[in-house]
Amino acid sequence: MTRVRKAVLPAAGLGTRNQPAAKATPKNLLNVFDRPMIAHVVAEGRAAGIEHFVVIVGRGQGAIEDYFDHAVELEQGLAERGRAELLEILNDELLGPGQMSFVRQMAPLGLGHAVWCARDVIGDEPFAVMLPDMLMAANPGALSQAMAAHEAVGGNIVVVEPAPEGETHKYGIVALGAETPGFDGRLRAMTGMVEKPPLGTEPSNLLISGRYILQPGIFDALAQHAKGAGGEIQLTDAMVARLAHEPFHALEYEGTTYDCGDALGLLRANVAFALRHTGAGDQARAAVRDLLGAL
Ligand code: UTP
Repeated sequence: MTRVRKAVLPAAGLGTRNQPAAKATPKNLLNVFDRPMIAHVVAEGRAAGIEHFVVIVGRGQGAIEDYFDHAVELEQGLAERGRAELLEILNDELLGPGQMSFVRQMAPLGLGHAVWCARDVIGDEPFAVMLPDMLMAANPGALSQAMAAHEAVGGNIVVVEPAPEGETHKYGIVALGAETPGFDGRLRAMTGMVEKPPLGTEPSNLLISGRYILQPGIFDALAQHAKGAGGEIQLTDAMVARLAHEPFHALEYEGTTYDCGDALGLLRANVAFALRHTGAGDQARAAVRDLLGAL
């Protein structure tokens, strides 16, 4: 089976729900406790063995490239001040030469279109898609769990999780078939996907979370540029078109997702990542208790 080496991180959306915070700072650089949200997602990808990240960017998002590059003056200044520990933290964020590409999506035509923009860099091999505004706290990471499922069954893997009670109509929901042995009922054949099904018609309570492993055939479907929900070129529609050609499995991952796509979601992610931080967790807990006590 071909190993999954590359991941596409679509970061070129307008971020309307994060405005005005994302007006002058790309949404994916908004902070989640100690680093930008996209840096947490890259760390998850590296832990899963991804060797090449393809970030889809839009106009005014050059700061994402700068984040993943050397900051020469800063590094010199820290070296002069003997701040070796901080230099090490900064260096750990960097990938090796040639391990990150940036592809411009010239207009935000939808998630499917963003993924399609990566077709030449991905080529003819399976690849991961990681939505950088969905932080998934898990051990092993969500993409590592998807990799294990992919090694077992191949094809396409869509990471899913239970929708909040009574809210299936707000999400992309999967329809499920037979269970794959050895995964505690968490890995099942996927027979369909529906965007925002009216309440009572949902085929399951499992929503599409933001991590995928896809076969390169998805680019054939995306090349149709068919517009779906909201007038956007949707990744879900392309996956539905590929269901007739290739196996798809839904993996209910073990972990907690934080959707940073609005101010409240970003707040939850910040608090959660602060509380679970190895060095600063105890102080963060005390700070949160203080704040709550003062209210
Ligand atoms: P979202 O719809 O959650 O993000 O897309 P958005 O479009 O930035 O936010 P809103 O809906 O306007 O508030 C999921 C991911 O896909 C990327 C986004 O950047 C986000 O990381 N995306 C979306 C693109 O790269 N290009 C697009 O055309 C649309």
